[in-house]
Amino acid sequence: MIRALLLTVALASAACRAAPPSPGQRSGPTVAGLEGAALYARYCTSCHGAQGGGDGVNAPNLDPRPRLHRDPAWSRSRSDSALAAAIRDGRGRAMPRFGRTLKPHEIADLVAGLREIAEKGNRP
Ligand code: HEC
Repeated sequence: MIRALLLTVALASAACRAAPPSPGQRSGPTVAGLEGAALYARYCTSCHGAQGGGDGVNAPNLDPRPRLHRDPAWSRSRSDSALAAAIRDGRGRAMPRFGRTLKPHEIADLVAGLREIAEKGNRP
């Protein structure tokens, strides 16, 4: 009985740790706390990685590889409208379009989130 209880507690705490970051949290080089974090966690991390490192579970299967989002130089080379267009319309053969899935304000939140990943993701 006690064992079953302990197992339940262990499983519950593991589930909490695995939960996606909630907006408002700030914890170092992760996407936690950025605008659109929940959207990023849901739609983007499978390819771009939980911290925008280009190392999501699907990344090895893609050619070209998913863009590394933790890259300030790349981020600064793209305008907001270019990032929004890539999300809305897709890019190349491997980046899907999200224009039918996400609303314009959600895409704008993701653009803001990408800026945060690029700038904060590379902090020591
Ligand atoms: C199925 C895998 C996959 C998913 C899911 C995915 N991406 Fe991508 N993404 C890619 C790949 C691959 C590239 C590189 C495409 C290329 O360079 O041809 C890319 C490129 C990009 C770029 C780069 C455009 C540029 O100008 O360099 C942005 C921005 C981007 N993705 C944002 C997102 C966002 C935001 C999401 C979630 C809403 C997302 N991606 C979801 C695979 C994915």
